[in-house]
This record gives sequence, structure tokens and C-alpha cells, in this order.
Amino acid sequence: MKFKIAPSLLSADFARLGEDLARAEAAGADWHHVDVMDGHFVNNITIGVPVVKSLKAIAKIPLDVHLMITDPWRHADAFLEAGADVLTFHAETLYMGEAKPLIDRIHAAGAKAALSINPETSEEILVPYLDSLDMVLVMSVRPGFGGQSFREDVLDKVKRLREVHGFTGDIEMDGGISRHTIAACAEAGCNVFVAGSALYGAEDMRSEIKVFRGAIGVV
Ligand code: DX5
Ligand code: ZN
Repeated sequence: MKFKIAPSLLSADFARLGEDLARAEAAGADWHHVDVMDGHFVNNITIGVPVVKSLKAIAKIPLDVHLMITDPWRHADAFLEAGADVLTFHAETLYMGEAKPLIDRIHAAGAKAALSINPETSEEILVPYLDSLDMVLVMSVRPGFGGQSFREDVLDKVKRLREVHGFTGDIEMDGGISRHTIAACAEAGCNVFVAGSALYGAEDMRSEIKVFRGAIGVV
């Protein structure tokens, strides 16, 4: 399974998004992680559809759009049209009867579909959808802000997704990922790693990504 490093634009300089996008690409990033927050599902407001559209126009690698919004059903099409290559919505936001039709819509738009769970949410809620999901995003901090400490207790959910539920798609870990926490995530079964402060805050993102890859045994 291919390991992917996804710097989170939440820690970029919002006055220089284009430059920071290019910086991540030159540093060897695999995906750009784009955190969309509505001030309702989480207590923060960040990036919306027009920004995603502008990022898409210059990005050379896929946009991994993480919707932390109360009503993904209402806004998914706009983010897909804006150019999301991977679209993630939260299991906590939906009557789960709505999850499968939303996954189907994401696929019909040619994008990858992912469901995310907060640290307190059991992975059991995802079981009916695992066959149709390309990726599961496991939050290792309370969503809303960068720079929080990694919560180790979420690693058991990743192990269960692989070992008990047999999930073979991508598992992305988001929150508190650094050179110190990435190896434990890979050992548990993650293969996509989001990092905001540890990468955009690094003096040299390129060498930090190399350290990340070294820690998970890929160079
Ligand atoms: C938090 C966001 C994360 C955030 C991670 O709600 O979903 O993507 O950027 O930031 P760090 O890596 O600093 O914990
Ligand atoms: Zn995120």
C-alpha cells in the first residue's frame, strides 16, 4: 500500500496560499490536505468553495478536501465541481442513511470518497460503508484547530479497521502527526498522513518530509 504525505494548508500562510502550495509540492508532498470548516460542526471557519477552485487551478498534486461541516449533503457538489480529488465528510454529521447516496455522488463526479470519525466516535459506525469507501479518515485530535497533541487511543480503531473489519482502502490519520507520532500510525495500519504544524512549521519542509518517510521505512 502506497504511503502518502499530505501537508495541511490550515498551517499555511493564507496570504500566500499559492506560494505555500508550490512549497509543499517542491518538498515532495503527495496530496494537499484542505480543511473546510463551517463554524458550526467545528468552532472555526476556514476555507470555502472559491478558494478550493483557485487552489485547483494551480495544484499539481491531488486536493484532499476534508469537510468539517454540518451539512455535507448540501455542499458536496460545489466542492466536487471546484475540483476536490478526494472528498471526506464526517460520520457524525449525517443520518447514516444518507451516507451511501453521498458516496455514490462523489464517485459519479470522479472523485474518491472518504468518511471521517472524531476521536470519540467508534469505527463501528463505518462498517456498512467500508465496501464503497476509498478511504477512512481517523481524527487523532478534536477537529477544528491545528497544533493539538496526538491522541494515541485512536490507534486501536485503525487496527480494528484492518484486522477485524478487513478494510483494505486508504486510512488517513489527521491531527498531531509529527516525526514522533507517524511511525505508530503506520504500524497500526495507516498509510496517509496529514500534518499541518509539523510540516508548514518546519524550517525545511523537504527535509522534514524525508524524516517522515524515514520514520515509516520508505525513502
Ligand atoms: C484539524 C484539521 C487538521 C489540522 C492538523 O481539525 O483537520 O487537518 O490541519 O493540524 P496539525 O497537524 O497541526 O495537528
Ligand atoms: Zn483535516
